[in-house]
Amino acid sequence: MRKLKGGVIIPLDVPREEKALELVELLLPLNPFFKVGLELFGRAGPGIVRKIRDRGGRVFLDLKFHDIPNTVAGAARAAAAGGAFMFNVHALGGEEMLRAAASAAAGEAGRLGIEPPLVLGVTVLTSMDGEGLRQVGVSRPLEEQVLELARLCRRCRLQGVVASPRETARLREELGEDFIILTPGVRPLGAELQDQKRVMSPREAAEAGADYLVIGRPVTGAPDPRAALKSILESLTPGA
Ligand code: C5P
Repeated sequence: MRKLKGGVIIPLDVPREEKALELVELLLPLNPFFKVGLELFGRAGPGIVRKIRDRGGRVFLDLKFHDIPNTVAGAARAAAAGGAFMFNVHALGGEEMLRAAASAAAGEAGRLGIEPPLVLGVTVLTSMDGEGLRQVGVSRPLEEQVLELARLCRRCRLQGVVASPRETARLREELGEDFIILTPGVRPLGAELQDQKRVMSPREAAEAGADYLVIGRPVTGAPDPRAALKSILESLTPGA
């Protein structure tokens, strides 16, 4: 089977820093990545990234920047300086904003002598459908919009995109092996779907071309989160 080039990302979808750090400590022996989103960032502040880093964890800062290029460049520098391993921006911010994000992140990392964070683009939110896109003035089919924005991200030197499992295979085919695809909506076989609709198993998502899999509640909500993550990682081991 195709080997995952990145890894499994655990979203820390909890409002309290202590709970987030508890999960980090519990799962760190298996070396996953951790996603800090708007809720935890809003409650705990940017220091949470450093605290996870200090414990040896790598952080995907999921704040989806979308603003004028100068402002996004500042946010990108802050993400790099704050110790994010990876962060994302909305592709709809356009070429100038995307280029500003990529170059500011690399520039700040260079200035500090640290590894530059990976910058990923969000194409179309998976909460949007064709009708939702039409309401905001996009008349082309959703899949074409996703592809067009992914191509824009690549032209602007972003390292990859966030995509739903449904789009992964087509994006991989179109964008080549070197472009990162990060996929949420992943459910181990037999797990509850919760509010996710179009899901794939970790193995299917990896086969379809994903590099990073965001898997939340099947791990964080399990009676033994470490055992749940371990069994997911085993299912992704070639030969398993
Ligand atoms: O618990 P679950 O595996 O559904 O968590 C998925 C995580 O990925 C959540 O943090 C959710 O916000 C995020 N996400 C998603 N679907 C998207 C984009 C992000 O589920 N299209």
